[in-house]
Amino acid sequence: MSKTLLIIKPDATERNLVGHVINRLERARFKIAEIRLVRLTEQQARQFYAVHEGKPFLESLVAFMTSGPVIPMMLEKDNAVEDLRTLIGATDPAKAACGTIRYEVGRTIEKNSVHASDSDENAAKEVAFFFDA
Ligand code: CMP
Repeated sequence: MSKTLLIIKPDATERNLVGHVINRLERARFKIAEIRLVRLTEQQARQFYAVHEGKPFLESLVAFMTSGPVIPMMLEKDNAVEDLRTLIGATDPAKAACGTIRYEVGRTIEKNSVHASDSDENAAKEVAFFFDA
């Protein structure tokens, strides 16, 4: 089993889509090993997205990610990172494959409902950002 991090973003918590997203994850055989509901501070959002420092969308992204509760979870599955990226679809919901979570519920390239780690190395860092595990 490998691990990855998924975050349900404020646009999805606000629209009562938490159960829907968790249902998609469970149907795809991900195990929820850790889960929290948190309200990120500006400093935490900047730290989490430090890799995007200098990008034109960073300020708006930080404002969005601190606008409401988010739900980070540590997920376990064989091939977790790649399988979760496939399940959520492309960053821009308009380009996400049919049937993916972002295709179904994402609104814009920013308000795209979920975040998922993009490599095993980043998954370890992102899991450690939210959990002791
Ligand atoms: P996420 O997978 O969490 O990684 C970075 C986030 O920045 C992304 O999802 C979007 O919410 C947001 N974002 C906004 N604009 C862009 C963009 N042009 N390219 C990539 N990410 C963007």
